[in-house]
Amino acid sequence: MSKKITDKVTWVGKIDWELRSFHGNELSTWKGSSYNSYLIKDKKIALIDTVWLPYNTEFVQNLKKEIDLSKIDYIISNHAEIDHSGALSELLREIPGTPVYCTANGAKHLKAQYHENWNFITVKTGDTLDLGDAKLIFIEAPMLHWPDTMFCYYTGENILFSNDGFGQHYASESLYNDKVDKDEMYFEALKYYANILTPFSSQVTKKINEILALNLPLSMICPSHGIIWKDNPAQIVTQYLKWADNYKENQITVIYDSMWNSTRKMAEAIAAGISSVDKEVTIKLLNSGKTDKNDILAEVFRSKAVLVGSSTINNGYLYSIGGILEMIKGLKLKGKTAAAFGSYGWSGEAVKQISEHLKTCGLNVVDEVYKTLWVPDDAATQACVEYGKKLAELL
Ligand code: FEO
Repeated sequence: MSKKITDKVTWVGKIDWELRSFHGNELSTWKGSSYNSYLIKDKKIALIDTVWLPYNTEFVQNLKKEIDLSKIDYIISNHAEIDHSGALSELLREIPGTPVYCTANGAKHLKAQYHENWNFITVKTGDTLDLGDAKLIFIEAPMLHWPDTMFCYYTGENILFSNDGFGQHYASESLYNDKVDKDEMYFEALKYYANILTPFSSQVTKKINEILALNLPLSMICPSHGIIWKDNPAQIVTQYLKWADNYKENQITVIYDSMWNSTRKMAEAIAAGISSVDKEVTIKLLNSGKTDKNDILAEVFRSKAVLVGSSTINNGYLYSIGGILEMIKGLKLKGKTAAAFGSYGWSGEAVKQISEHLKTCGLNVVDEVYKTLWVPDDAATQACVEYGKKLAELL
């Protein structure tokens, strides 16, 4: 069902309450998501983005209730990924020849996905499209988060259509940021940034500063996922600048996996040592074998330090630790401290390997690896507490 946003702009997307994973199984989406598509009815009619492929027919049928499709003058494809371009084929079967505005990379990506020779009009930053009363200004935003991504700004109502930027995987029947549970929504915005945009933080900062320098008035930011930033839309821009700047809170995250609970006991003792020295720091213990990988990455993103512990198996670390280490590496984090620990029974290589891996992640690794033979007794447990105290003092 469509929802009117302003006199001229209507939301015509799809709210997906069922979505629990995205990018295959690469990203968890516990709060669902939405695929936001926007229809601008100026003197000319423009449609900005569509929805994910499984909802293509539903999307086109709903759009027909909002407008005679033949009246759509322009389609704007801000980003070629299938969650936004998925209904283009269905739509363009009904209105063939309608111009599709996108970046040069956008045209390349759309052609390679759909193998259709649509009427592509490629645009660059600063190009405009006159809709009659007002115009769209295109702003290329490569690597936010694909090479093809662009934003567009509608001068008539001062709206930035930011595609994935400033979005959240968050289903809500309420369209706006001041109508939802703020903490819940902000966590999803952070999780989205942490998991998807962190590797591109330098581009995020550059792009935001470039847009701010244009001094465009801003009444709303309309992303392609989640709620619309209507109440103080600049707040998410400010927040993005913070997230992009080696973000950290006063938090330490302890990630571990444990075959027979010895490494868990070490994690708990280290945490007790940290909290005995630093009463303010938030400490989170996350078993990577039992905790969602993307929720872990969100906690790593907001931490000033990350401790990673594993039992040793077959001369290496446990499977879940291997996975999470690889994901941490991909984020290209900077400015965080890290350390490795774990229990072992035979050779005990895991801890050293974790430490070496953390160094390749760009983290400031505490050189001293910390390991315990088999089950920690009182003395070994106390040694873990002391190790935690030392880390707390170091931090
Ligand atoms: Fe929401 Fe990169 O697609």
